[in-house]
This record gives sequence, C-alpha cells and structure tokens, in this order.
Amino acid sequence: MSIHINAPAGSIADTVLLPGDPLRAKYMAENYLQDVTLYNSVRDAFGYTGTYKGKRISVQATGMGIPSISIYATELMRDYGVQNLIRTGTCGGMADRVQLRDIVLGQASSTDSSIIANTFGPGVYFAPTGDFELLTTAAGIAKDAGYRTLVGNVLGEDRFYNDELDKQKLMDYGVLATEMETPALYLLAAKYHRRALAIMTVSDHLGRDEHLSADERQLTLDDMLTIGFETAATVAKSAE
Ligand code: HPA
Repeated sequence: MSIHINAPAGSIADTVLLPGDPLRAKYMAENYLQDVTLYNSVRDAFGYTGTYKGKRISVQATGMGIPSISIYATELMRDYGVQNLIRTGTCGGMADRVQLRDIVLGQASSTDSSIIANTFGPGVYFAPTGDFELLTTAAGIAKDAGYRTLVGNVLGEDRFYNDELDKQKLMDYGVLATEMETPALYLLAAKYHRRALAIMTVSDHLGRDEHLSADERQLTLDDMLTIGFETAATVAKSAE
C-alpha cells in the first residue's frame, strides 16, 4: 500500500504501461489484457494487472502533468519495485516533418519545468533520457509494423496553455513534439535506476493547427497501444 495506490504487495507487475487518462487505462485493460484484476481505484486513478501474450503487465493511470505522473512513478518504483515504465500518451507535433498519427518515441525530454533545477541545483542542466533498450525495442516494433516513427527530443511542458514559451526556438533546435509528463518520468527512472520510455502518438499539430477527429484518434491510439504492449511484452517477465 502507498498513499495514492492501495495495492497489496505483489499485485503490480514489474512492467507497467502508463496512460494519463484513467478511462484509457480501463480501455487498455479490457481490450489488451487477459485475467485482469483492478488493483487501484484511489482517486479513480485505475490500475490493472493482467497478462498480454503470456507476460504479466500492469496498466496504471497517471493523470496529467509532471506533478501527477511524479506521484505514480515514484510510488510504483519505490513502493512496488516496478522496473520498466512505459508511458503511452498523446503529444502535439511541433517540427514541420511531424504528421498527425506519427509515433514519437522520446529519446530525451527538454522541459520548462523547475524539476531539474530543484533536483540538481543551479548550473546543472541534467538531460532526462529514455532507456536505450526500451527505445530500440519500441523503434524496431513500430518500424517493422510499418508505422511512421520519429525518435528524438520532446518538450515536457509545465502548462498545456502556454503561449509565453518560445516554441519556435525549440522547433528550430529539432524538438519533435510537446507533451506534459516525460521529463519527470525519465528523471525519476534515473533516480531509482529503472528503465523508462515515452511512446506517443501525434494527436494535434501546433504549428499547423491540425487535430485528429474522434475516429482517427481511436485508431491512432490503438496503433500506439499495440506498440506499447508489444514493447512491454518483450521486456516483461513471463506470467508464471
Ligand atoms: N501540449 C501539451 N500536451 C499535449 C498537447 C499539447 O499541445 N497535445 C497532446 N498533449
């Protein structure tokens, strides 16, 4: 048991997929996992454990933003010993070459959040980085399945509505897309010596003011979730 996850010891798998939305966690459990149990409903941040292709995998909703994912990622690693944390979420395309429905893998995450300065003090600009094995595994799965897949630097913003930040400058420096959770996930994984990766799908494009329709959103979510589950199954332990 921890403050925000009231799960008995041993009920969370060593590999956890992390959607932001609790209803997406439910959708993932119902449509991808077998032999599912619900281990958490505190604040409706649903957490499930089940099996996918014979591997034991959990799905934990994180809520939106750096403070919220920091709570769940910390408790999963510190209190439940989770080893592999794979965020499955949406992002807003920034670079010109990014298209709606692309898969973006966060190799590294830039941020305007104070979490780096608060952790390391002034003058140190730690680079939150995705796990290389998870990254290459996901990239291989995505490319073999024929998805347009981009790997690179993403922006993990502190605010969704953020017109003060110079996003053009970040785009000029090759930042692919914006979202709100990855720097915290990578920073905490580094702290606890665990592995983390953000797998995202492009639901909007900031520069071109493009947005997926509801139907396209569902299709693209399923593409991304398949990559997430296949990556998780490659690194997870067998269910026995
Ligand atoms: N900003 C931040 N997070 C997001 C966005 C965005 O434009 N789109 C999807 N997640």
